[in-house]
Amino acid sequence: MEIKKAEFVISAVNGNNLPRDGKAEFVFCGRSNVGKSSFINLLCNRKSLARTSSNPGKTQTLNIFSINEEFYFVDVPGYGFANVSKSIKASFARMIETYIKKREELQMVFLLIDFRHKPSAEDVQMYEFIKYYGLPCTIILTKADKLKQNDKPKNKKMIKEALNLREEDRMIQTSVLKKEGIQETLNVIEEVLKDYEPIVYEEEIEE
Ligand code: GTP
Ligand code: MG
Repeated sequence: MEIKKAEFVISAVNGNNLPRDGKAEFVFCGRSNVGKSSFINLLCNRKSLARTSSNPGKTQTLNIFSINEEFYFVDVPGYGFANVSKSIKASFARMIETYIKKREELQMVFLLIDFRHKPSAEDVQMYEFIKYYGLPCTIILTKADKLKQNDKPKNKKMIKEALNLREEDRMIQTSVLKKEGIQETLNVIEEVLKDYEPIVYEEEIEE
């Protein structure tokens, strides 16, 4: 698969203004600053389709992107960012949790983990949450360019163990700088789309 067309559709803070055409959705979750928005841009081969920043806390809403007019990418706020108020943190968490729990169109969660570090307690919690709701998950190891070649197998093992990664879930090494991990990720998406039947919404009948 190749991404030929990618466009921003809408920012949503709750489920009300999400698309209602039943197409499959893929969400990118993870800590603030782990590289979610950058990775979406990498997959789409676009510099600033999703807004990125070197300061954590850039993405603050659910941002929906239409891909090839066939499916959607959903960029979400990161967790674990110390520099926001408790109430904002809680509202971000609620936004993401509700989306994951309720959204029938959601077919795969890409959980981004910094390849250099041990997953945080929140990363582990997020993975457990995803599994509790029975969703397929792919771990995207980010910023592989910042890691020595020698350390990669060791870190892979460490992350796999810390998350208690389930048999069915895969890990993909990626780097935005080196444009690494694009095809492997697109293959995962293609595999999911093969079996997807778009949800049909009843027409809302006006009296
Ligand atoms: P929030 O929206 O705050 O949750 O962050 P985010 O996860 O969307 O992160 P974002 O894509 O904005 O990237 C954060 C920083 O990491 C930016 O400075 C990026 O340039 C950098 N970054 C992202 N991916 C990579 C990568 O593969 N390699 C390197 N070296 N830097 C990266
Ligand atoms: Mg972001």
